[in-house]
Amino acid sequence: MTEPDWAALDAAWLPAREAGVLGSATTEAVIAHAAGYLPAACRVEDEFSGIDLGTGAGVPGVVLAALRPRSNWTLVDASERRCHLAAAAVHALGLDERVEVVHARVDDLAADAAHRNGYDLVVARSFGPASEVAECGLPLRANHGHLVVSVTEATLRQWTGASSRLGVTVQVQRGADGARFAVIQSDAPAPERWPRRPAARRRAPLF
Ligand SMILES: C[S@@+](CC[C@H](N)C(=O)[O-])C[C@H]1O[C@@H](n2cnc3c(N)ncnc32)[C@H](O)[C@@H]1O
Repeated sequence: MTEPDWAALDAAWLPAREAGVLGSATTEAVIAHAAGYLPAACRVEDEFSGIDLGTGAGVPGVVLAALRPRSNWTLVDASERRCHLAAAAVHALGLDERVEVVHARVDDLAADAAHRNGYDLVVARSFGPASEVAECGLPLRANHGHLVVSVTEATLRQWTGASSRLGVTVQVQRGADGARFAVIQSDAPAPERWPRRPAARRRAPLF
């Protein structure tokens, strides 16, 4: 594998950085954090499909695509401006052939047969409350697939507390930067009724 051109990514992310979309972390730190999303099942030689929920400027999806040269990705965000920023990052790394940036709501993709149950790896960083990640993200996961989210002590407790109700197992893995990630799996597809309409999710979150 040729090493991804991280300097090109750093340059492509300049407008995102200036717009405040990337926060204060350096590109190096963003890359180190993103790598922590990869479960053991997604080795460098593996072919798999991934989706990044609320990708913003492409975090973590664009980094994961670069680190796994045989993977195909959908990076989705409801903001058109952020989709442009993500597309610039994809282009800078030469990933256009296997990474698609989609301007859409994640909940709409989750209800769309072309995407539902379609991804080996579903990732989310700062997408929203854990209940929202669960209801929108679990339906996108293929049967054998993983949903991986970065967690704090509090959100990890939420995931583990809700695991039996959700019909999932939750394992914790640590990234090289010390960050913690919940790796969520299930033998069963998500219930047909997920995701409910936004108003219903707000009124009665899953957990
Ligand atoms: C806090 S930002 C995180 C961006 C990126 N994942 C990161 O860590 O830098 C949350 C992103 O989720 C997007 N978003 C929020 N709700 C969404 C939805 N229902 N469907 C698609 N994108 C959504 C927002 O537009 C925003 O770009």
